[in-house]
Amino acid sequence: MKKRPRLSSDVTRRDLLLGVGAAGASALFGLLRPAFAEQFGTQVTWTGYEKYEAAPLKAQAAMNSRRVVTRKSISTLSEHSDELRMFKEAVGVLRARSERSAMHPNGWAAIAAQHSLYCSGAVHGLQVHWSWLFLPWHRGFLYHLERTLAAAIGERTLALPYWDSSSDQMIPSHYWGEGNPLYDSTRLQRPEDRIPLDFMDVNACLMPRDFRTFGGYPYVSGDQEMVEGVMESAFHNNNHNWIGGNMATFWNAGYDPIFSGHHNNIDRAWAAWAAMPGHSMPEEKAWLDTVFTYSDPFGQPARMKIRDMLNTEAMGYRFDTLEFTQPNITPPRLNGAATGYAVAVDPSQRKVIANALRTGREYVTLRFTRVQANRLAVPLCARVFLGLDKEQPDFVTTVTLLPVQNGGAANLNEHVTVQMALRAGFAKQIESGKKLVAYMDPVPLRGRQIPEGAVKLDGVDVKLVAS
Ligand code: C2O
Repeated sequence: MKKRPRLSSDVTRRDLLLGVGAAGASALFGLLRPAFAEQFGTQVTWTGYEKYEAAPLKAQAAMNSRRVVTRKSISTLSEHSDELRMFKEAVGVLRARSERSAMHPNGWAAIAAQHSLYCSGAVHGLQVHWSWLFLPWHRGFLYHLERTLAAAIGERTLALPYWDSSSDQMIPSHYWGEGNPLYDSTRLQRPEDRIPLDFMDVNACLMPRDFRTFGGYPYVSGDQEMVEGVMESAFHNNNHNWIGGNMATFWNAGYDPIFSGHHNNIDRAWAAWAAMPGHSMPEEKAWLDTVFTYSDPFGQPARMKIRDMLNTEAMGYRFDTLEFTQPNITPPRLNGAATGYAVAVDPSQRKVIANALRTGREYVTLRFTRVQANRLAVPLCARVFLGLDKEQPDFVTTVTLLPVQNGGAANLNEHVTVQMALRAGFAKQIESGKKLVAYMDPVPLRGRQIPEGAVKLDGVDVKLVAS
């Protein structure tokens, strides 16, 4: 009989189950090992943070007396503020837990792995990207992470800071520095690098009145088309991929502490969107009753329904501000080598679409359909242009296509539609009835190889979204 290897002395069967089920446990093992070596390896040791770990009674008391907390922009927190200190110490405590035991149910590694598991249909039978599950799943994840951090150090007021990346183009300094629990050595950008403004066009992402266009279409499985919301395909994906390293892969993204800073900003964008007049959330039960499993501050499985995630105050947090800064973007120019695709526009709709663009009362999207994302080995960031054949096209927006890593799961979508907002300026071209061409121009990023022919498109079209 073969002996079963043990990861460390305090791995127990209960630790392994973690509320993800037996199938999850083995998947979790596979996921943790490579990232564990990278993140909790020999260079950095988090053992010093054990001294901040709250005793169970103190942790419980912090949870019992917790009120609504205010989440702030991390760049507004001074190095010596209590808010930053709490966040750092708590992340350090979670990292130290994982260092003691890779399978600690409330260690940094196990929490990051919850995200990895929901990126593959294999464990939960759900993929939480490319559809209307995207915003709520990540909101629930941050909610549980924030409470787990607060309990870890027994501080009831701990609030997750956000990275306001449309205004702070550099990764905030608090995320840098060897030995800092908020640092991740796999990032491909340096502290002085600035994320291009067109990557973070928050105005374009907040524009749609229709939730599906903003936050994603209904979740479908198999070979049906998944339609990604603009918040996700542009603002969200561009930032992940730009940072690189752990953040640029589904499997490892949750390990980089900036994951919570970026997602918290997206959560803020959702709150801002929801607060705008005329905007409403989906009313379908299929959405409202979707349940996700996370873990509570004490390592027990915690189930949460989307219908209980629609009011942040009721969930126990608010944002210091729902304002976003949108610096002016100088429209990038098309690089001659980009591939052009003929764009389909329903001839009977041309006038209606042009009018919708001019009045701005309805929303028009350019859609790249049937991106066979599984042919893609690494994320592909591209600038999109649209124009009349043989003329210089105009810039539309910048999106990032993420590869499907399905690990053999049969229910994952190979086909994802990416949609993007068109502005009034395109009305004339669409109305003209002449041949329209769209281009995807890959953006070179530090340390990344852009794969040749990695993306296969079945079609590009222009669609009027009913509002
Ligand atoms: Cu679930 Cu930002 O990825």
